[in-house]
Amino acid sequence: MTREPPIDPGQVLAWGVPRMREFPWRRTRDPWKVLVSEVMLQQTRVDRVIPKWTAFLAAFPTPSACADASLGDVLRLWQGLGYPRRAKNLHATAVEVVSTNRGRLPDSLDALLALPGIGPYTARAVLAFAFERDVGVVDTNIARILARTAGERLTPRRAQAAADELVPVGEGWTWNQVLMDLGAVLCRPRPTCDECPLSSTCAWAVAGHPGPDPAVGSAGVSVAQAPFEGSDRQRRGKVLAALSGAPCAADAFDAAIVDSLVRDGLIERDGDQLLLPR
Ligand code: ADE
Repeated sequence: MTREPPIDPGQVLAWGVPRMREFPWRRTRDPWKVLVSEVMLQQTRVDRVIPKWTAFLAAFPTPSACADASLGDVLRLWQGLGYPRRAKNLHATAVEVVSTNRGRLPDSLDALLALPGIGPYTARAVLAFAFERDVGVVDTNIARILARTAGERLTPRRAQAAADELVPVGEGWTWNQVLMDLGAVLCRPRPTCDECPLSSTCAWAVAGHPGPDPAVGSAGVSVAQAPFEGSDRQRRGKVLAALSGAPCAADAFDAAIVDSLVRDGLIERDGDQLLLPR
């Protein structure tokens, strides 16, 4: 078996630092602001997140401001981002840290993981991007890089271990941002390997890109979303958008869609009216 030379983090940083993409959440280390960005970025493209992140944090600059608002107000600001359970979880996290931690997000993995809606990815993203810890962050872009450099599909445990192992000491913030950029700019689903600082150390590139692409089906690599047009996600979004304006009669909407939103705690019934949670 041939072995590629080990990855040289210096080469990756030399590629990435001068090209680092500018995003507003990269100018802060405020844990709440970083958390909001990471939650929004999980299922929404960066260009759509930027204005929503700015508006959300103007309204709710701290967990305490968010906890003081109703879930309905949080959902109103979430309009257009989709996947509104994320907003409900953020609100619940704000309420919880206000009641248990003086309104501050914790800085340990276990305490972050215990908060509503915060999973292994989000917890480590907060540790790396707010607290500048040397942990590996496995988002879909980085997961693609890890699988391809390994030359095989990875389990979640192996992907996390590989990501953690690569972080150069003291560079957790920069390293993870640069790897995200590398995945977003070069190591895309259809990669551009000629400029890549990993081209001589990437098992998949060195082997000449044999099929199947090891990133497909590897841990943390997202699969295509189902079409939005005509989906329940779209129908739920329409109900929430209508209720963001004012309460509406329940019989104006599909009953199964209404039931699913009530079950998820995203809307409430008041007699025959529906409204956002107060
Ligand atoms: N996607 C998830 N986190 C990100 C970040 N910090 N910068 C750019 N894209 C991201």
